[in-house]
Amino acid sequence: MISSGRTHYAAEVNDTMIGQQVRLAGWVHHRRDHGGLIFIDLRDRTGLIQIVCEPDNAGFDVAYRVRSEYVLGVTGVVRARPEGMVNAELASGQVEVVPSEVILYATAKTPPFNVTDAKLVDETLRLKYRYLDLRRPELTANLILRDRSLMAIRQFFHRHGFLDVETPALARSTPEGARDFLVPTRIKPGHFYALPQSPQIFKQLLMVGGLDRYYQIAKVFRDEDLRADRQPEFTQIDVEMSFVDQEQVLDLMESMLHDLFKAVLGERLERFERMTWHDAMRLYGSDKPDLRSGPPLCTLTDVARTLDWPVLREAQAVVGFTLRNYRPSRRELDQWGQQARELGANGLLWLVHETDGLRTSASKFLSSQDLARLADAAGSEPGDAVLIVAGQGWHPYEVAGQLRLSFARQAGRVEPGWRFLWVTEFPLFEWSEEEGRFVSAHHPFTRPVSEDEVLLESNPAQVRSQAYDVVLNGIELASGSLRIYQPELQARVFDVLGLSRDEAQAKFGFLLEAFQYGAPPHGGIAFGLDRLLMLMAGADSIRDVIAFPKTARGTDPLMDAPSTVDPSQLRDVHLEIRK
Ligand code: AMO
Repeated sequence: MISSGRTHYAAEVNDTMIGQQVRLAGWVHHRRDHGGLIFIDLRDRTGLIQIVCEPDNAGFDVAYRVRSEYVLGVTGVVRARPEGMVNAELASGQVEVVPSEVILYATAKTPPFNVTDAKLVDETLRLKYRYLDLRRPELTANLILRDRSLMAIRQFFHRHGFLDVETPALARSTPEGARDFLVPTRIKPGHFYALPQSPQIFKQLLMVGGLDRYYQIAKVFRDEDLRADRQPEFTQIDVEMSFVDQEQVLDLMESMLHDLFKAVLGERLERFERMTWHDAMRLYGSDKPDLRSGPPLCTLTDVARTLDWPVLREAQAVVGFTLRNYRPSRRELDQWGQQARELGANGLLWLVHETDGLRTSASKFLSSQDLARLADAAGSEPGDAVLIVAGQGWHPYEVAGQLRLSFARQAGRVEPGWRFLWVTEFPLFEWSEEEGRFVSAHHPFTRPVSEDEVLLESNPAQVRSQAYDVVLNGIELASGSLRIYQPELQARVFDVLGLSRDEAQAKFGFLLEAFQYGAPPHGGIAFGLDRLLMLMAGADSIRDVIAFPKTARGTDPLMDAPSTVDPSQLRDVHLEIRK
């Protein structure tokens, strides 16, 4: 590979090139002075190569003066490393280069942290000097992975007849879900654009426009609380298709991921498992089950009804899960009890299944027959332990689901591998205590399951939707749905959401109007690209797969954003800051 000023990257130089002249360029990773003999590890984005400079080599005076992170061009001849000096960890570890010329392109100040051990440094400092952090091989590798993945994804969509269409970044505020980032403008005092939370409405309009198959690698923006897997701006692989049913969307998206993992990681994925939302909640207490973390939960409500102890007998739901072949310490049991209370449970009941009987935290309340019945219903055997939570609705399931994950992590029982899962049939609505009304579980354009449409007015909470998520190892990677394309059905859904005709008109009038001009049945999905790459890279945070991410508090320490602006800029956009 030839680019200006270099014939090869470091990792391309190997023992087939001995005697050949090469021209390399990069940064001084390490410099060692062995009594007049100078070794430089030269680093570029592919890795390291050793340069050896003897006092009578050309360039020795430059090599003598260089420090870490100086920028060099080196022309020289490849030779085999002396016996015993081979470094098997480097692609170029069999060889070294003896320079005939060393050009010093740039000196460097002592960096605020050592590029090699940057991982140990406070992340805000690393983000402030992100360009130094990016020299770290792990981060470079993550960006290379990102590039390779985008290429494979684009090729997949291109092969399957999708058009890459860009949609506006300056759009209209349609609050639903997260808060919008607003953009004031010179042209209309008191009016704002909003940065899109997703291209949702545009992609549906593209379907009305007859584009049939759309995808976009789209930057989207959400002003919400951040976590390791959330950024205020992130990238979606956004997809929409016309004249499809749910099966076709699921199949095609699954093959996209199969292709991607094969092309980029060389991994052959199993066919994805499938589960309805209801089963996911019942078996894992979560709409994003981590299938690697041990056996599912079991519902013990029926057995609980037969017990003497009212706390269990009268609970709406009793949920347990079994720790196979595990004898928890008293401390662990107390810890989980504490965790259960922090998650809002009244307490945690445990059974420890010894060979000679059952021990329990509730020996005062449960007879040995009761205990045996519970243990039996939980499928527990001698050597196991069972944790049990009682409560209302899905809550005990959610608490038990969290405990299941904590246990798997703590006991080192999270299995390796890629456990992909489709979760389907999400509820169409969720009840919001805060707002005292139903809100969309996905978004207001999601199509209900046809046979549930009759329940829209009478029992909205029971209406299932044609919405689906891709979950990988307990993380939500993608969400999508078939959409409503009939104005009458859309109006009924808006009614359930408590959106008056006028409000609906004001918010989404343009979409409703478009649907009156012939809308095809359509549906789609959006993947969180950063989350997908985080998992592929084995990184802990999506910040590690984004070149210039924001901190966990949403700021950019490198450019010092957000920042104040010049008063004249504020005047231009008709804004005044209230002190
Ligand atoms: P949704 O809001 O579920 O769906 O987003 C799709 C996917 O985007 C990822 N994601 C995020 N990634 C990083 N930081 C964030 N703050 C963040 N928020 C979400 C998740 C999520 O699954 N328009 C719909 C999709 C559709 O119906 O087609 C949408 O945006 O991986």
